[in-house]
Amino acid sequence: MDFARHLKSQVDIVRVVSEYGVRLRRVGRRYSGLCPFHSEKTPSFSVSEEHQFYKCFGCDAKGDVINFVMAIEGLTFWEGLKKLAEQHGVPLPKQSFAADDETKLRAVLYEMHEIAAEHFRANLEAPHGAAARAYLEKRGVARETAEAFGIGLAAPGGRVLERVLAQRGFRPEQMEASGLVGRRDDGSFYDRFRNRLIFPIQNESGKIIDFGGRALDPDDKAKYLNSPETKIYKKSHVLYNLNRARKRAMEADRIVLVEGYMDAIGATQAGVVEVVASCGTALGTEQIRMLRRHSANLHLNFDPDSAGANAAERSIKLLLDENVRVRIVELEEGLDPDEYCKKFGADAYRARIASAKAYFYWLADRARGRFNMRDPQGRIDAFQFLMPAIQGLHDKLERVAVANDLAGYLGVDAGLVLEHFRKAVADRAPRSAAPQTQPVRQMDRVLLPLIIGQPAESGPIVEKLRTLTVWRSFPAARVYDTLISAWENGDALEFAAINDRLPEADQTWLASLLLDAVHAPTLDDGLACVAALEREEREAARRDMRAQVRTAEREGRINDALRLMAELKGLDAQR
Ligand code: UTP
Ligand code: MN
Repeated sequence: MDFARHLKSQVDIVRVVSEYGVRLRRVGRRYSGLCPFHSEKTPSFSVSEEHQFYKCFGCDAKGDVINFVMAIEGLTFWEGLKKLAEQHGVPLPKQSFAADDETKLRAVLYEMHEIAAEHFRANLEAPHGAAARAYLEKRGVARETAEAFGIGLAAPGGRVLERVLAQRGFRPEQMEASGLVGRRDDGSFYDRFRNRLIFPIQNESGKIIDFGGRALDPDDKAKYLNSPETKIYKKSHVLYNLNRARKRAMEADRIVLVEGYMDAIGATQAGVVEVVASCGTALGTEQIRMLRRHSANLHLNFDPDSAGANAAERSIKLLLDENVRVRIVELEEGLDPDEYCKKFGADAYRARIASAKAYFYWLADRARGRFNMRDPQGRIDAFQFLMPAIQGLHDKLERVAVANDLAGYLGVDAGLVLEHFRKAVADRAPRSAAPQTQPVRQMDRVLLPLIIGQPAESGPIVEKLRTLTVWRSFPAARVYDTLISAWENGDALEFAAINDRLPEADQTWLASLLLDAVHAPTLDDGLACVAALEREEREAARRDMRAQVRTAEREGRINDALRLMAELKGLDAQR
């Protein structure tokens, strides 16, 4: 597809990757950072600006800028293409641009959610929305806030949205796939959300993918309701409000994580806009990675009830594993963030956020409540209870400092702390060996980056290589062969095109070679290499001929020997 190539020439992968919150640092001629696709504490994720690809040597995520957007946003190829094009102002070709079935269905689902959201908003504005508006007012949600969050109302009737969607021409199977309606045994449809306040749930780029519906009738069995998972909604991949919070989170390098919709809304109204909600689910790895891409400093502000505290305790371990620094926001009187903002006001809430303490003090307080601190063994037990969380700290010195701090806090002998760390070091598993790779010739380091990086100028070099055969015995023979046949076909010699034609092992080899380059080779460097290869080839030809002469002599084929010697002279003369 030619548009894809055109698009790639218009956008810079380094910028796109950075915009998704991956902090990249220049190392030599590549950029390096923590991989957004797996957990790691030291960077094995690289981006080549020159060749416009990324590669993680930890989890083997790799590809070009379109693959990156597809992977990080969970998009199809077509959606990734469209998204990049729109974001970078590259006009999409109008004709003959048919999307695949999956993309088409997803586009329909997005549209249905957009229509539903519009319908819900209109309900809230309508006369029959008066009670819901009063409810919001009672809960302190300002009109502008309700608008900013797109809050709406699902009518009490059983088939209101269903009729709206049917009128817009959506087919039964599309209805069902949307999750917005349910299907009865007799095949008829009913609205999933009835008599509920509606919170649209958006993905990172702001597309509505699901709704959270809060019961307005206190007798309703389920306080909150969501759609089932659909082609566009995956529960474990959602953080409510991330689309609005992400910019500020990156600027402030801080994210506040709360449990509920109303908490995110309350905090936003209090001026803490870098807030996202986990929506009451157990925080998962995917969500943590989404958070970490925007900031590695998390202020955990779960509800102070025991469920919230237990969830916080479980989350801490996971967060530390993903290299996130955690602080715990503590609110007095057992209030959740929303209630706290309402009762004590925005300034008080911001002050609680600002003074949040590192997670281990909070854990220590929990430990104090759990163990008998008057008893020496109880204090040691409390300390043991905290150790796993301390061990999760990335920095060794910090680990020791925190452990000492906590030992003092809990009244535990400092000697015990040291012993603990000695043991932990001894227990640590040996590091795994570096991955095995094919050897690299010095020449590869010049020729391959040059040809792939500057295909337009490298014509003479490829032409020379075509006439040579020595490279066929190189470990990288397949790479050269691929380059040369692409050249002969008149195909592009750029990285993406070449990479696609290589087997897996060669792809990894080539990616690391290109990423490791220290400086860009010049055309002269390349010509010098080719000249050296020509010499090598002539040398090899002479060795071969001398061997043939010897064989002919040994076998008494005098005429053959004489002829070969004459040819050998000719070769020497060329020198
Ligand atoms: P809460 O029960 O704390 O609700 O659940 P809340 O957000 O404080 O709402 P209000 O203040 O009572 O109106 C926290 C979050 O857990 C999810 C929702 O995302 C909710 O915001 N949840 C809760 C559900 O998905 N289903 C439920 O039945 C309850
Ligand atoms: Mn609440």
